[in-house]
Amino acid sequence: MAVITCIEDQRKLAMRKVPRMFYDYADSGSWTESTYRSNEKDFENLKLRQRVGANVSDRSTRMEMLGQDLPMPVALAPTGLTGMQRADGEILAAKAAEEFGVPFTLSTMSICSIEDVASNTSKPFWFQLYVMRDRDFIRRLIARAKVANCSALMITLDLQILAQRHKDLRNGLSAPPKPTISNMLNLITKPSWCFGMLQTKRRQFGNIVGHVEGVDDMSSLSDWTNSQFDPSLTWEDVAELRKLWNEKLIIKGIMDKEDAKAAVGIGADAIVVSNHGGRQLDGTISSISALPQILDEVGDKCEVWMDGGIRTGQDILRAVALGAQGTLIGRAFLYGLGANGKEGVTQTLEILQKELDLTMGLCGKRNLSEVDKSILHQYQ
Ligand code: GLV
Repeated sequence: MAVITCIEDQRKLAMRKVPRMFYDYADSGSWTESTYRSNEKDFENLKLRQRVGANVSDRSTRMEMLGQDLPMPVALAPTGLTGMQRADGEILAAKAAEEFGVPFTLSTMSICSIEDVASNTSKPFWFQLYVMRDRDFIRRLIARAKVANCSALMITLDLQILAQRHKDLRNGLSAPPKPTISNMLNLITKPSWCFGMLQTKRRQFGNIVGHVEGVDDMSSLSDWTNSQFDPSLTWEDVAELRKLWNEKLIIKGIMDKEDAKAAVGIGADAIVVSNHGGRQLDGTISSISALPQILDEVGDKCEVWMDGGIRTGQDILRAVALGAQGTLIGRAFLYGLGANGKEGVTQTLEILQKELDLTMGLCGKRNLSEVDKSILHQYQ
């Protein structure tokens, strides 16, 4: 058994265990992947100030997101095809999140359905919505999320058109995988993944297949997305959807202060500064470098969170130092899931929390409420 000490160890193990098509789907950015790389690199460039002689014996990483007291300011991001990283992946990740005490967000593009996750968990989770052309379907999805007792709706706005990810095209990404010779040869090398998949019935997009007329399978994710997602979506449409949802609303995919103002205008309780993990507009800035300007604009009007590039507890601390009131992790937990299922996701959360706790202490702080820009060299 490989010894796992950090998220990078989990990534390497996931790469060995998950079929190439699905590993690549998670671990890639669009076109040149420059934004994907910047997300991680720009974190590293925020240098922490080492402090000594402060009493850091009694520390806590607790913080609130949307009024919920959490062991650390982290929620699991909505990630498409999670149930293809590992059989029943969404259920496993939701259970791990629930036990750890952090929110889980189910993607519209999940394999396990809203109902599957609801019947396998006991606390409310969050539901992420992509707005598709078929608005009746969207209204039904929102109604299903209500029935499932979801406590927040997260509308993602940066994927109304799909950017190109070269690897997905080369791999012919589809769920379930197409039985080409190269896919079959690759699957033979992933016996535990195959075994899990044979034990479950959940191998299609559970929220969609059977719920949208004319959609019985997904021959190609990109063709399907291009035909279903609504590129004509405007803020007026989002305002209309807001009326259908009385609980907390989170708007994800904000990289510009004008858009941040629009999100506040339609009544967002939180926004996620996000470039979709570098999977959409390649060539834009990293999420962490977009965060300060968004905070300046709307930081006193709604909660401002960020995602993209978080691989360590140090990164979470840096985001909090710049003023983020929460963070989302996507790939980091997918690596844990691909590597070791539910235990792997728990391990991801444990690793990040331990790193966050120790790093905060090494910066001379005992609580995240004491953490601000002054722990960064650039701002001292
Ligand atoms: C969907 O969220 C994707 O990035 O593929």
